[in-house]
This record gives sequence, C-alpha cells and structure tokens, in this order.
Amino acid sequence: MRIKFTNLYKLAPNKKKLFNSIKKNIVGSKFIGGDIIKEFCNIFKKFVKVKYVVPVANGTDALEIAIQSLDLPKNSEIIVPVNTWISTAEAVVTNSMKVVFCDINLDDYTINIEDLKKKITKKTKCIIPVHLYGNPADMFKIKKIAKEKKIKIIEDCAQAHGSKIHNKHVGTFGDIGTFSFFPGKNIGAFGDAGCIITNNKKIYNYCRRISNHGALNKYDHKHSGRNSRMDVFNATVLIEKIKKYKIVIKKRNLIAKYYNDSLKKNKSIELFKLKDKHTYSYHQYVIRVNKKYRDKLINFLKKNKIDTMIHYPYMLNELSFFKYKKRFKNSNQLGKKILSLPVSEEHTKKEINYVTNTINSFFQKNIEEEIRNIN
Ligand SMILES: Cc1ncc(COP(=O)(O)O)c(C=O)c1O
Repeated sequence: MRIKFTNLYKLAPNKKKLFNSIKKNIVGSKFIGGDIIKEFCNIFKKFVKVKYVVPVANGTDALEIAIQSLDLPKNSEIIVPVNTWISTAEAVVTNSMKVVFCDINLDDYTINIEDLKKKITKKTKCIIPVHLYGNPADMFKIKKIAKEKKIKIIEDCAQAHGSKIHNKHVGTFGDIGTFSFFPGKNIGAFGDAGCIITNNKKIYNYCRRISNHGALNKYDHKHSGRNSRMDVFNATVLIEKIKKYKIVIKKRNLIAKYYNDSLKKNKSIELFKLKDKHTYSYHQYVIRVNKKYRDKLINFLKKNKIDTMIHYPYMLNELSFFKYKKRFKNSNQLGKKILSLPVSEEHTKKEINYVTNTINSFFQKNIEEEIRNIN
C-alpha cells in the first residue's frame, strides 16, 4: 500500500463547480478585489466569529502587517516560540524588532508559560503564540500575563483553522490573529493566500491600508504601505473549502483517534496530551520518539511506502543567523525526535491502520533486537 503524506488534488471539493467558478472569473475578467473577496471576508468572519477580516497575499505578510499595525517602539522585544515555521520570527525581523525565543511544552508543542514569564522584560511589547499543528496555545494564561504587563498579543493561527478553546476560535483571544492558506494548510488555496482577523476597528483599518499601498479606497493613500492582496481565484477556492470544512475537521479528528487508540500502548512513542474543552484541527499529527530510533523509523516507513515529514527538523534558535545561543530545556534537539504522520482527510481507516501496524512492528523488531543484544 502506498500512503502519500497528502494529495492536494483530492482535497479540492466539488471540483466541477469550483473549476466552473474559476472559469467564470476569467471570462468576467474578475481577478483582484470586488464581490468575491467581500464574500470570502464575510464567510471567514462567520467561521471564526470575529468583527473584521483583512485578506492578504500569504500568512507571512499577515504576520508582518499585523506587527506593523501595532506601531511598537523601535527595538521592541517580541516573544516567539522556538518551534514554529520561520515566518513567525522572520516577520519580527522584517519589522526591525528583536526576536526573543521561548521554549515550548512537550505535551502540545505550544509556547511554555513558565519560560514565557522569564523572557518578559521592560522592552517586551508583544507575544506571538503559535497554535502549532492545530494545538491551541494556553490563551487564558497568556492573556492574563499580557494584560498585567500591557503586552500585545498576535496569535499565529496559520496551522489552526477551526481550533478552539471553550468553543472560541483561536485568533480571537489576542489583539490580532493571522492565518495562512498555503495549499498544504487545512484550508488551502491554489497558491499563496492569508488573512488577518481582529475585533479592533483601528487595527483593522490600519492593516487594510498597509496591505493596499496605504489606501482604503482608490487613490486615498494616507501613508506608504505595500501590495499584499488575496486574488479572486484563491478566494473562490477558499469559499468552497470553508463551506465543507466541518467534515474535514471531523475526518481529521477521526484519523487522530485511530492513531491515538493504536499507538497509545507503544511505550516508545509520545503522543499529544489532549486538553478538555479544546477543539483540535489536527493540521499535523506529530509523534515523538527517542532520537536513536527516529531516522531509522522514517527509513522503515519509507521502505514500506509510507510518507512522513518533520515539522520542523531544527528549532529556530539553531539557525545561526538568529544569533541565539541559549539552549532550551524542552525543545533541545526536538527536531531529531519529532515525526509527522499522514493525517489528511482523504486517508482511509485501512490506510491509517497500515501506518500504525507498520510503526508498531518497527518497534517490536527493534526491542527484540535490543533484548537479543543484551543477552
Ligand atoms: C506557523 C506558521 N506561521 C506562518 C506561516 C506563513 O504562512 P505562508 O506560507 O502563507 O506565508 C506558516 C506557513 O507555513 C506557518 O506554518
């Protein structure tokens, strides 16, 4: 059996209708702006239950624009978890602010509250919790700390479409939430796209201006900005995908449950620790194994035609250009231990059973071999 990590073509819903809508845009010369973009904003507003949505060109732009919109003093410190996609830290650098890395929890891989408290200084002006893999960060505690210290919060929700805490969508706890619709994301476009969400009108209008050459309307430039727009084709795809998203989350949760049930007895594997009243979108299903076995396991799965990935093989402090020498307790060498298994909604129970049986047989073989070596 061949198990692809994901099959993006299969994930496109109602292909006939979707391709027709795209054709209609071309025939009608609708490429940028207009009613379809407005429809996307309205549908996304309802989906996350927020007042304002700013569509942009990608999730990195969303982060950069969000930081810019906060008008922070020069050289402010912004706290970022050390295990995330590079964009979260890159957006801080592009805004000429100082990145301060923070450790993560080993049970859900989101920002570690104890380390966060230690990282706050007088210069800390913003925290960017990342809801990594679709796991919600502890927004209640982060909000409490931020309120006490008068620090802003931008939630990086690039991997967390549909993730909630107490039924409230991530991205709506802090001042701003940012999303990516990169094709491989749970709600993925046919190219790059992203958006910013907020309940603050001033931030909303500022983000709109920054993303559109400083203008809200044609030729109404109040300051310089940039060009970061979502195009109509991607908006069309996203509208269709959001309409079908409830089923996607349901399927991903079912697959995650199959994994949990089949792998939990395997003592060599650490799984996510799920929290009460959290809704998980399972952008990734990540296991952690001893680094002695991780690469061997990847090769064994590859031989058995099972794709895996690593999110991410390095912690950001390990990238030399960040010049961040300090080590972290939990995330030290984490990139050598984690492994993402296929968790896309197109996978069948049979396929996931094949993955878990193969993983369990790998450990069985290795443990037997170790016992033999001891004897
Ligand atoms: C956590 C996180 N933040 C930001 C981004 C950036 O999004 P984009 O690729 O759309 O620029 C990504 C995308 O991979 C991400 O995973």
